[in-house]
Amino acid sequence: MNSHPIETGVEVPANHVIVLFGATGDLAKRKVIPGLFHLALAGLLPRRYRIIGSAPEAFALSTDAFRDLARDSVERFGELPPDGEVWEEFVASLSFAVSSAQDDASLLAAVQTAETAIGGEVHRLFHLAVPPDAVLGLVSMLGASSLRARARVILEKPFGVDLASAKRLNDVIRANFDETQVFRIDHFLGKESIDNILALRFANRFFEPLWNRDHVRYVQIDVPETLSIEGRGAFYEGTGAFRDMVVSHLFQVLGFIAMEQPTSLEARPLRDEVHKVFETMRPIDPSHVVRGQYDGYRDEPGVAPDSQTETFVALRAEIDNTRWKGVPFYLRTGKALAESRQVITIGFEEPVMRLFPLAKGAPQHRGNRLVVDFADPGSIHAHFFAKEPGPEMRLNAAEMTFHYQDSFQTAHRLEAYEYLILEAMLGKRTLFTRSDGIERLWEVSADLLASPPAVEPYAPGSWGPASATHLIAPNTWCLPE
Ligand code: BG6
Repeated sequence: MNSHPIETGVEVPANHVIVLFGATGDLAKRKVIPGLFHLALAGLLPRRYRIIGSAPEAFALSTDAFRDLARDSVERFGELPPDGEVWEEFVASLSFAVSSAQDDASLLAAVQTAETAIGGEVHRLFHLAVPPDAVLGLVSMLGASSLRARARVILEKPFGVDLASAKRLNDVIRANFDETQVFRIDHFLGKESIDNILALRFANRFFEPLWNRDHVRYVQIDVPETLSIEGRGAFYEGTGAFRDMVVSHLFQVLGFIAMEQPTSLEARPLRDEVHKVFETMRPIDPSHVVRGQYDGYRDEPGVAPDSQTETFVALRAEIDNTRWKGVPFYLRTGKALAESRQVITIGFEEPVMRLFPLAKGAPQHRGNRLVVDFADPGSIHAHFFAKEPGPEMRLNAAEMTFHYQDSFQTAHRLEAYEYLILEAMLGKRTLFTRSDGIERLWEVSADLLASPPAVEPYAPGSWGPASATHLIAPNTWCLPE
């Protein structure tokens, strides 16, 4: 008899002290603090834990003020309000300690106090929710101090701005920590629908046999956003859409779509397969890239009046292996666009012979497509042709749809950040990015970074510069639908 083990319980991490660097910053307030509280509500924080917020002297808070900040951030950004028994326990676990690259004294004392209160052997999770220029100093401080023992470190993107800086960063990390202690977070890899790509492909027989150059005509990874850079000008100006979204997120999604089946879902085999995809990616050709900038970007605070930073990018990536050679991977993302969507489209080749006429008005050019909408809660759509009811054999477009929200009990769904923080506490590295993979992605981006095409203006609320349409002709973008 075929039987599958049924998961009866979810693993809860061992006792932990969690240190949140950048505790007064935007990421901590929007994602990390509400996320930790949601983990507590879901019963997924350790049985005994303490959370220490930390920041340099200039941003120092008292413990009471940090608790107020936590309450405020859960109220504004959390799924459930800060009250009840779990909140009381959560808020009582919070304290604040100043630290910086040069000064670990208060943090050491706070960690010791927390560990004594917890008792027994306590793991340490250091979450560096800090700007890129603060990372190296903090990593060296932690590595040189006794805090390094029993520690895991979560690092935020961007992992460098080019190959040289990524290598420098990785060298410093390697000099201070073992790779098994390092968790480079890419929150796209914590999204349910992205992980579901693995299930869709490898737990089913429907699509995988067609998942190759013989049947796939193109792949699109399309992440338009309606939001502008909204007060992030100073950060964004030195980063741009390509570094902020493509290198950090879209290439990782491409890795999951294009990889071969790993021998298991453990970190090493899975990340090896993703890495092989990156190894076989061709360097991005600048003539296959369109960069855009929305009108009004140069008026944002922190942005240069003659800025050449792109707020939109569309490009064609190619993978030179037996499975994918010749199949274009079209990637597009940008700010201030017409819609906010996160969509993967696998466009299939036409049947060798078309026996049936299409009905008047049927979308001729769009054909068979598998669409993964990976914005939470996510959905999957298979587009195909079906016979239109009536006496004649005529085809029209039809769709089969799976919606996460309607199909499963999603009440205990974890947001991407929460899921990844939990995985880090459990020491599971499968969904975290690897240093060699990141370096390879900067390597394939080097020609583009050295000779980027000029930015083309576009109107806010549009779909970006018209050149992005020409870039993929005779194919077309699947959005807008
Ligand atoms: C971040 C980028 O990493 O991801 C932002 O810095 C972007 O520019 C965001 O808006 C998108 O994330 P989400 O949570 O909407 O998937």
